[in-house]
Amino acid sequence: MKPKIWLSSPHMSGNELSYINEAFETNWVAPLGPNVNGFESDLQSYLNDNRHVAALASGTSALHLSLIMLGVGIGDEVICQSKTFSASANPIVYQGASPVFVDSERDTWNMCPEQLEIAIKDRISKGIKPKAIIAVHLYGMPYKVDQINEVALKYSIPVIEDSAESLGSLYKGKNCGTLGDFSILSFNGNKIITTSGGGALVTKSKELKQKAVFLATQARDDAPHYLHSQIGYNYRMSNIVAGIGRGQMTILDSHVAKRRSNHQFYFDAFKHNNRITFLQEPEGYFSNRWLSCILLDSKETRENLRLALEKENIESRPLWKPMHQQPVFEKYPSYLNGVSDELFEKGLCLPSGSNLTDNELERIVLAINAYFVTC
Ligand SMILES: Cc1ncc(COP(=O)(O)O)c(C=O)c1O
Repeated sequence: MKPKIWLSSPHMSGNELSYINEAFETNWVAPLGPNVNGFESDLQSYLNDNRHVAALASGTSALHLSLIMLGVGIGDEVICQSKTFSASANPIVYQGASPVFVDSERDTWNMCPEQLEIAIKDRISKGIKPKAIIAVHLYGMPYKVDQINEVALKYSIPVIEDSAESLGSLYKGKNCGTLGDFSILSFNGNKIITTSGGGALVTKSKELKQKAVFLATQARDDAPHYLHSQIGYNYRMSNIVAGIGRGQMTILDSHVAKRRSNHQFYFDAFKHNNRITFLQEPEGYFSNRWLSCILLDSKETRENLRLALEKENIESRPLWKPMHQQPVFEKYPSYLNGVSDELFEKGLCLPSGSNLTDNELERIVLAINAYFVTC
């Protein structure tokens, strides 16, 4: 059996251990400490735009806290992009609220602004104005920020920017992660930088960050004893994990460059194959190309190619199955145009890690070409 090629595996810089060792040597083995502060400040400098960052246990916890801070509760509705990972939608249900799913457009594969407005108008006509909109920059490609914000502003609904997959991407020169009322990042093992598991909430003010940190550390009121006047969560990032993050920040730009070059390599290799198409960057969009995705000419081709790659010990995965098709979410309202269903049928994510070698990339291209010769 040939060695496994993973879809997207962790890629260390070599600097991580020095931050972790320092944490051990100084006994900062806790969910606070110099690495947490340092990682937050590295992220703030990177993102810029006067944003404030709270390092948390996961991107999911960041989404959950943003819903809590927007006052989402039992009986509320929250609009969520249907084509995404379930973590975008799960926290809506944690709050006793209901997700309302909105389909994608073809230019970025993200939330369709027209469908969004149709959904908002319809929910309002039914007597429930959505409390928030969760829009996602899938696979690193920014969503149509101006158009989504325009609709959100028109109806005065705050936007939570799910930037879990898009650290390092830009929309009209501005960093993804700074484009929502709240923004979230993920440092899960497969992301562009990883802390093994972890995430961050990005806020527009210092006060909002403080509020998030308060909620993330069990909502401890200011008193010498333990005093709580609201429900809290254990969502803070540990100082050890944050040490990995500090090391990873030193190579974020090179990870973006490498993922983009993987994408270009696949594009050059298959540009003459009329059964494969790619998502291009619209003008003003810069994708970190977290995952390189291709569209095949049919669902059958997509699945057979996936199986052919699997035989070669190469991991690939269909694009996200939309939330409106998920058994756990299918009972909720959805506003659809067929785009995310088609993308799920025909789309495949190819190995995309920043640690892929030239030989591995050649092996993947050879395996795909071999499939098309035989089928
Ligand atoms: C689009 C999206 N949103 C949210 C998350 C949740 O992040 P985490 O795994 O850090 O909780 C992920 C990834 O895991 C994701 O891909």
